[in-house]
Amino acid sequence: MKPHVLVVGGTGMLKEVCLWLVDQGYNVSVIGRTQERLNDVVKQACDSSSISPISVDYRNEEHFLKEIIEIQHKRGPITLAVCWIHSDAPNALRILAETLSNLSPNPWRLFHVRGSTAHLSQVPMPVPERCLYRQIVLGFILSDTSSRWLTNKEIATGIIKAIQRDQVKCVVGTLEPWEKRP
Ligand SMILES: NC(=O)c1ccc[n+]([C@@H]2O[C@H](COP(=O)([O-])OP(=O)(O)OC[C@H]3O[C@@H](n4cnc5c(N)ncnc54)[C@H](OP(=O)(O)O)[C@@H]3O)[C@@H](O)[C@H]2O)c1
Repeated sequence: MKPHVLVVGGTGMLKEVCLWLVDQGYNVSVIGRTQERLNDVVKQACDSSSISPISVDYRNEEHFLKEIIEIQHKRGPITLAVCWIHSDAPNALRILAETLSNLSPNPWRLFHVRGSTAHLSQVPMPVPERCLYRQIVLGFILSDTSSRWLTNKEIATGIIKAIQRDQVKCVVGTLEPWEKRP
């Protein structure tokens, strides 16, 4: 059976990451709310049978938990999760991490994608046993004369690199000097 990965918030800037994971031979479960955006990821995958779309609002803790449990029963333990979760769902990451650790007999990797104001030194939740927590902070691009936020392509490329290198902490783009951000 192919290893199972979960991408939370995978239909926007993480879409390319989902497609890459399918290319790498994973079974990919992808969470978002909008069915059309989920269908679009499935349509673009090189093997649509390797991608399972899950429409759920992660702010609804009960539904989110139920979907995570169900997808593991259907497709096996999750070995890798990539999560981009907005701040209006303060408990979603912890719920996910605790549930995956409880259901998995082996260590699993959690790549937590965070906005520019996150501090790499701060882990935003108690990390449960068997969870190998990794942080990716999205910075900005600085040139001689200006600065700008990252494109979706740059974000996806940075995340894929972090997964390939299994980086514990990384910044895509830069956070320095902070006063030069866009
Ligand atoms: N430092 C930087 O340069 C930086 C940092 C962050 C973002 N950005 C840019 O800003 C753009 C917009 O950011 P964005 O956060 O809207 O990112 P996005 O990745 O385009 O969309 C958010 C993802 O999360 C899902 N989602 C959102 N709320 C959800 C919920 N309550 N429950 C379940 N899934 C949910 C969305 O699907 P649904 O909408 O279908 O739910 C989608 O898959 C990005 O495309 C990126 O280019 C840049």
